[in-house]
Amino acid sequence: MKDLLKEIEDCRQNFSQSLEKIRDKASLEEIRALFLGRKRGKVTALFDQIKNLPPEDRPLIGQKLNDLKKEIIAALQKKEIELSEIKEAPEEKIDLTLPGKKRYLGSPHPIMLFLEEIERIFLEMGFVVEQGPEIETDYYNFEALNFPPYHPARDSWDTLYIKDDLLLRTHTSPVQIRVMEKQRPPIRIIVPGRVFRREAIDPTHLPMFYQVEGLVVDEGVTFAHLKGTLEYFLRALFGEKTKVRFRPSFFPFTEPSAEVDIECTVCRGQNPSCPVCGGSGWKEVLGAGMVDPQVLKNVNIDPERYSGWAFGLGIERTAMLLYGINDMRLFYENDLRFLTQFRRK
Ligand code: PHE
Repeated sequence: MKDLLKEIEDCRQNFSQSLEKIRDKASLEEIRALFLGRKRGKVTALFDQIKNLPPEDRPLIGQKLNDLKKEIIAALQKKEIELSEIKEAPEEKIDLTLPGKKRYLGSPHPIMLFLEEIERIFLEMGFVVEQGPEIETDYYNFEALNFPPYHPARDSWDTLYIKDDLLLRTHTSPVQIRVMEKQRPPIRIIVPGRVFRREAIDPTHLPMFYQVEGLVVDEGVTFAHLKGTLEYFLRALFGEKTKVRFRPSFFPFTEPSAEVDIECTVCRGQNPSCPVCGGSGWKEVLGAGMVDPQVLKNVNIDPERYSGWAFGLGIERTAMLLYGINDMRLFYENDLRFLTQFRRK
C-alpha cells in the first residue's frame, strides 16, 4: 500500500509538470487523455489497482485517488478557461491605428537656456559667475549702492518689503557690493538671478523676473571697455550686424550712466507702427555705467587707483526680443506647447 501512496504522489507531480507546459487546447486534451483516459489513463490505472489491495486499505486509497482525480479535473478546467480567454482576444481586435501613449522628455526652461547662452559668452571673455541672496537688506539693495534714505530714486524701484529693513531685492546690483566686500580687484563677474518688484502683471511686466548683472573693477578700466564688451555681447547674442546705441541715463550707483538699446529685431526701424518698438526702431535692453566712486568707497576700494563699470540686463525682455515673443507671461504659464519649442542647441 505504501508503494501505491507513492505512485499517487508521483502521478500528482507528474500532472502538474505536464500542466505547466500546456499552451493550446490540443495539448490540453492530450494531457486529459493521458491522466483520465478510460483505458490507459494514469489515474484510471491506479484505480484499477484498488482491487488488488487488502479490503481494509481500499477506502483510504480510494479516497486519495478520488481527491487526485478531482484536482486534475479542476486544474484542467481552469486551464481551459485561461486558454479560451487568450483565444477570445484575437489579433484583429488590436487597433494599430490608435496613437500610442506619448512620453515627454523634460527640457530646460527657456529662461534657463537663455541664461546658459549669456553665461557662455561672458565665460569666454574671462568672467566668473556669482550669486547672492534674493532676500536683501536695505543696505545692500539701496544704501551701499548710493541711494540715500528717502531719496526719490528709490521710488523707481517698486519694492516689496518683508520688514522695514528686509526686502525682496529689486535688482541684482546688491551682489556687486557683496562681491566687492570680500574680493579685491581685479573683479570680473556676472550675476544671473531673480529680482522682484511690485508690478501689475501685463504682457511686459511681471512682479518676478530675471536679471544678469555684470561688474568689472580693475586699474585703468574705462567706458570704452564697457562699450566694447556690451557691443560684443549683444552682437554675439543677436547677430553680427545688430546695431547698438548708448543713451545717457541716471542710476545712483553709476556715473556716467547709460541705457543701451538694440535695433528692433522685428522691424529693423522700417515700420513706423511696429507693435514691438512703437516705431522708434530701438528696444532698450540694459542699464549700465561707470561704477560711482562713492560705491567703491563704500566697500573700501580706492577710487583713485581703481575704476569699474557695471551693467544690468533684463532677461525675459531680451529673450522676448531674440525669440520674437510678444507676451512675457508665457514664460511662467507652464504651457508645454510654448515651453517645448525651446531646446538646447
Ligand atoms: N540695477 C539696474 C536696474 O535694475 C540696472 C543697472 C545695473 C544699471 C548696473 C547700471 C549698472 O535697472
